[in-house]
Amino acid sequence: MLQKPRGTRDFLPDDMEARRTVEQRLRESARRWGYREVATPVFEELELFTLRSGEGIVEEMYVFEDKGGRKMALRPEITAPVLRMYVNEARVWPKPLRWCYFADCFRYERPQKGRYRQFWQFGVEQIGADSAISDAEVIMLASDLLECTGVTFSLQIGHLSFMRQLLAGIETGVQRRVRQFLDKKEYRELTVFLEEQEKGDLAGQLTALVESRSPGEAFDICGGIPEKDRILETFRLLDQAGIRYTLNAGIARGLDYYTGIVFEGFAENLGAENQIMGGGGYRLAHLFGGDDVPSCGFAIGFDRVMVSRGEVAREKELVIGVVHTAEGRGRALEVARAFRDAGIRTEIDLTDRGMGAQIAHASRVADFVVIIGGREATSGHVTIKDLRSGSQKVLALDEAVAEVTASGTC
Ligand code: HAM
Repeated sequence: MLQKPRGTRDFLPDDMEARRTVEQRLRESARRWGYREVATPVFEELELFTLRSGEGIVEEMYVFEDKGGRKMALRPEITAPVLRMYVNEARVWPKPLRWCYFADCFRYERPQKGRYRQFWQFGVEQIGADSAISDAEVIMLASDLLECTGVTFSLQIGHLSFMRQLLAGIETGVQRRVRQFLDKKEYRELTVFLEEQEKGDLAGQLTALVESRSPGEAFDICGGIPEKDRILETFRLLDQAGIRYTLNAGIARGLDYYTGIVFEGFAENLGAENQIMGGGGYRLAHLFGGDDVPSCGFAIGFDRVMVSRGEVAREKELVIGVVHTAEGRGRALEVARAFRDAGIRTEIDLTDRGMGAQIAHASRVADFVVIIGGREATSGHVTIKDLRSGSQKVLALDEAVAEVTASGTC
């Protein structure tokens, strides 16, 4: 028996209904903030991602050569594609642009619960604003979106300038290693590494930075930084909006394009793969031939959100089964149409089997069965049986539709 590829999943109808419900909520919440949906190709030129997304993601990419010999990659994330699209299509549009997307990404990772090779992100990119309120808007939206999914989460916010200040003057290769250790929260390994580099003092400062819990403490460790007023104003706006978060000045983010504010969301009931959202301020457009436009965004790991939600009881949809004799078949199709036009999920029997067998099947999959025999084929009436109570009636078609509609969901 052939199996699906490692790290991918199949979604059965119940799974898809649960996913679509959450997806719709996310879209609707983003719409209210003015974020309009966009879509980009599933594959892009490899260079789009190698330019600035960082070593980690490049190693994890699905890369292939097309028949024209071009190096392509399945998208591992959607920020770079969206910024490429901005440069191609919307450079002169009035800014800020507020865009969102829901799409699948591909990363060649070691699969485990919450970590897949094909996974979906609901993301947001705000392009062309550069202020405390623009950063605050993106974080408030991230918080709202996570809230609307029903998961219990915590939000951590940092700013790269703290770390930038501490790492100023240090070789880029070492800086990169430090960021990688911090991103993976490998603090002990970080200390060992810096001691080897004879930078033990820096290890102490970085540890203190990670442990600081107020902007004041972080500024004390790093000294004055040019972005101080803006950072304080962003936190003030978030506080006034009642956003719950903690400062984490040690957030490094795995992708290399971030420049300013950075933030991450964590689900409280997940294990190792508990990061359900990540984002921040960045600059990418200039690398793709556009202007050096400031942007800020985030992506929610949709699959992790679904794992965190677990089995959530959903309203069961009402189902009508239509059964028929050979002479009732044409009328059965008309009757099914009338129920469908009323918005009711209606499944007509597709076999030539006897009425008893058809009704037995309907009772396994439907809530009502509508019986169309010789009499019903010509009378304008239908025989309808409530399969839950067993009661059966003969009604005019519109009365039957009204009765089922009134019975609502089950
Ligand atoms: P990221 O942190 O790489 O950021 O991914 C965002 C989210 O996608 C993660 O927080 C996680 O929930 C989910 N995720 C990542 N990898 C996997 C995986 N293998 N399986 C399941 N879920 C996964 C970005 O991708 C940036 N583009 C976010 C962004 C948008 N920054 C600015 N704008």
